[in-house]
Amino acid sequence: MYISDPNKYFLSDPVFDGLFPAYVRQLSEVHWTPLKVAYTAAQFLAPTPEARILDIGAGVGKFCIAAAHVSPAEFTGVEQRKNFARVGNKIIKQLGIFNASVIHGNFVDIDISEYTGVYFFNSFHENLVIEDSLDENVERSPALYDFYTTQLQAKLKQMPIGARLATYWLSNSEIPGCFQLYESHFNNLLKFWKKEY
Ligand SMILES: C[S@@+](CC[C@H](N)C(=O)[O-])C[C@H]1O[C@@H](n2cnc3c(N)ncnc32)[C@H](O)[C@@H]1O
Repeated sequence: MYISDPNKYFLSDPVFDGLFPAYVRQLSEVHWTPLKVAYTAAQFLAPTPEARILDIGAGVGKFCIAAAHVSPAEFTGVEQRKNFARVGNKIIKQLGIFNASVIHGNFVDIDISEYTGVYFFNSFHENLVIEDSLDENVERSPALYDFYTTQLQAKLKQMPIGARLATYWLSNSEIPGCFQLYESHFNNLLKFWKKEY
């Protein structure tokens, strides 16, 4: 069923999060990007309508949905938990958004060279701090954190010069040296990077 007045959901996080089922909503404060952070990141990541942005670890698609609301560019998320991808795509449809989608899968299988920019909200953290897990439905371990981080760094290195990256709640040491820090916002939690070489 379509939502008749979608704009009202984009004014406050509690109202937006009300779109989610209860078990997803209770994860919002810690695990999903706040609307204002998504709007700021979208402006940097998508300087033109032709931009194609990948959210690595999209959850229920909150970043992609919010970014697509303020930018005509294309926002695609990849999410390992099938139920989260399903919830995200259902809400995208209900809101009548055409430039966002969530793919169910593991980012290791995605060719990120098809994208002009990447958004990354420290998605592998639950492998290091098991108490911070979103649920028990996927395998988590410190070894998996190292594997995913190495894979992400290799993929970022393959992106073309000029590619844009926005990180949220991530230490600078996780970013390959070929990306130059460009700006930071929200008390240094949101950082913008450009690939220099
Ligand atoms: C902190 S949440 C961020 C959600 C979303 N990016 C946002 O900002 O609203 C991290 C998400 O990454 C997902 N994730 C972690 N490792 C992943 C992987 N290897 N491939 C795909 N998704 C992954 C988790 O299942 C979780 O939903």
